[in-house]
Amino acid sequence: APAQIAVTGLAVMGRNLARNLARNGFRVAVHNRSQGRTDALIEEFGHEGEFTAAADLPALVEALETPRKIIVMVKAGEPTDAVIDELVPLLSEGDIVVDAGNAHFADTRRREDALKAKGLHFVGAGVSGGEEGALNGPSIMPGGSEFAYAALEPMLTKIAAHVGGEACCVHVGPDGAGHFVKMLHNGIEYADMQLIAEAYDLLRHVLGLSASEIADVFRDWNTGDLESFLIEITAEVLSQVDESTGGPFVDVVLDRAEQKGTGRWTVQIALDLGIPVSGMAEAVFARSLSGDVVRREAAVGSLPGPSGKVSVDREAFIEDVRHALYSSKLVAYAQGFDAIRAASEQYGWNIDLGAMATIWRGGCIIRARFLDRIKEAYDRDADLPSLLVDDYFKEAVANGQEAWRRVVGVAAAAGVPAPGFSASLSYYDGLRAERLPAALIQGLRDLFGAHTYHRVDREGSFHLDWSGDRKEHDA
Ligand code: 6PG
Repeated sequence: APAQIAVTGLAVMGRNLARNLARNGFRVAVHNRSQGRTDALIEEFGHEGEFTAAADLPALVEALETPRKIIVMVKAGEPTDAVIDELVPLLSEGDIVVDAGNAHFADTRRREDALKAKGLHFVGAGVSGGEEGALNGPSIMPGGSEFAYAALEPMLTKIAAHVGGEACCVHVGPDGAGHFVKMLHNGIEYADMQLIAEAYDLLRHVLGLSASEIADVFRDWNTGDLESFLIEITAEVLSQVDESTGGPFVDVVLDRAEQKGTGRWTVQIALDLGIPVSGMAEAVFARSLSGDVVRREAAVGSLPGPSGKVSVDREAFIEDVRHALYSSKLVAYAQGFDAIRAASEQYGWNIDLGAMATIWRGGCIIRARFLDRIKEAYDRDADLPSLLVDDYFKEAVANGQEAWRRVVGVAAAAGVPAPGFSASLSYYDGLRAERLPAALIQGLRDLFGAHTYHRVDREGSFHLDWSGDRKEHDA
């Protein structure tokens, strides 16, 4: 019988997705530009299910039942366009091309548009969970037409991660919606990791705990509200011992965080949407700073830090840091969901925010216990203006905010950078402030540039004649 689905691009993610499909009983046609990878897949894993090896794209297309469903799993950007360009002339009306890479959602919108004009369906599907997830159950965020999703749904929901019997795969919305949500997932992943790193840094440098002691702290945290994949693997990384030095693995790793771009994209788009994603922005900047060798070398040993040592109670501080981490994390998610809502409005995607939390409960890198809380929050109120004003979140932050403030204070006093914790706290305080100093900014803008201002007590735009009689005029 013809294959039900195809995968082209058999690097580790593509290979594992193909295996996942085959293991779940689907007939999969596979192809890779260099045949070696295809042969290796068949040789090593051919026994796992029904594979058809295709030597080239025409053979891959030929192997499929119609409408054809082809998953493209190659590098984002030009390589993806190249495969699509080669594939399109081989396809017939109604066929479905799925891009499962980390594409920029604007590229996905462009591609979807171009393929639609040819009678084809293009599905930009975010796939999270790394190699492991791709093989055993990723979190899947597909965009594109209803028709395409309906055709793919039985397969995608079968191979996706499941939590409480529910698949971590939901049709996100039209065109670029799926890749947008995947991008946001990565932005939150960046923020989460930055916050974890700050917590570690504070425990190490304020309390002087060893890496393995901190691993124990994270292991303990992973039994409560913070329970998540990233907290779990933090304990794993921190307890790893380096073979050659016998010291902590984390101490031999060069302290320059790299990035492939999805976190940066998130922040760039958020700027355009006018949504503060301060947690994610600080995470991206912190990675950039870590890699800024020239300025770090010039500053190390030259810029002075605090003179005294800060002393805190060990157990109390650990508990404070836990609160700071959880509260800052809630801010990152609140900001992330704000960005999704804003994009959904701007692009007409009609995204169900609660359902996004469902997709992320399993399979993906940011999977966490508290995602259930997000789902519940949107179930209570689909039009929730901010997650932070939902009762659960409000209470969690109310319980943690004094501790959070102490941690930001200690970090500043001890000279330990905590941009994620402090920017998130400032966002929280900005959000709840009755009056913001934005009024002064408006005054300044009016003085130097006649940019006008609004009043609290009357409608209209006004301008003060700053250089003349200083009287107010209608603008
Ligand atoms: C996932 C990950 C995955 C990738 C990150 C890494 O959801 O499985 O997010 O997509 O590991 O994009 O990003 P950086 O290399 O930029 O840290």
